[in-house]
Amino acid sequence: MDYGMQNRLSRVIKKDGRCMFMPIDHGYFLGPTSNLEKPGETIKPLLPYCDAVFCTRGVLRSCIDPTDEKPIILRVSGGPSVVGEDLANETITTSIQEIIRLNVAAVGVSIFVGSDYESQTISNLADMINECEDFGIPVMAVTAVGKETEKREARFLALSCRIAAEMGAKVVKTYWCAKDFDKVVEGCPVPVVMAGGPKCETEREVFDFVYDGLQKGAIGVNLGRNIWQSPYPVAVAKALYAVIHENATPKQAEDIFNEMKNKK
Ligand code: 5RP
Repeated sequence: MDYGMQNRLSRVIKKDGRCMFMPIDHGYFLGPTSNLEKPGETIKPLLPYCDAVFCTRGVLRSCIDPTDEKPIILRVSGGPSVVGEDLANETITTSIQEIIRLNVAAVGVSIFVGSDYESQTISNLADMINECEDFGIPVMAVTAVGKETEKREARFLALSCRIAAEMGAKVVKTYWCAKDFDKVVEGCPVPVVMAGGPKCETEREVFDFVYDGLQKGAIGVNLGRNIWQSPYPVAVAKALYAVIHENATPKQAEDIFNEMKNKK
């Protein structure tokens, strides 16, 4: 791999081969969703517990301190909103000139396999990879599932991840699933990170699934709502960071969470 590509990847995937990405991009289709009304305030206390921040150029320019050294993964696909006709109808929203101007470590593009816009969004991904490869910028594919729960099953996730990797994504974001998650990871020739999805009932559930996913080969997370929609976001982030980078078990993570939570 060329120096630039490898250097940028090593800014977001740490020397232990693991990563904790903090997505605050949700406003690009959800608007000012709960606890992300002011993304700059949401992210500030969480920065010590993440390896990279995933956001749009609008939030980057208006809410993130440019003198902060935290690597940025820029979301560069979007278009439809949660109240529009179809969330899958995404286009590329950010030019390669902007990506370079903003000096980001990587970019993220969603694909919607199985939707009416499957081909369009896979082309978005491939086109963005073509442009980014020229400049050594890694692309993370975000495999989106929409509201259909059957799409959170291993066969479907494996299909989406493999297609994203075949297009040339350097990292693929997908969802953890209880059954056969190892098959999802094994079928994907590039590293897999897990999203959190809508808020779980308990923090322990999050520690459990992230731990399980790591044992099955995922390299980390791109996990937002289960952190910053918790009443104790810093405690969840610290505990998850320990699961990812210090091999903490779910029980140890829960202890870290409880200790930190009680300090509040
Ligand atoms: C939204 C995204 C998010 O970055 C991704 O889903 C992770 O966030 P969460 O853990 O809240 O699901 O791409 O489209």
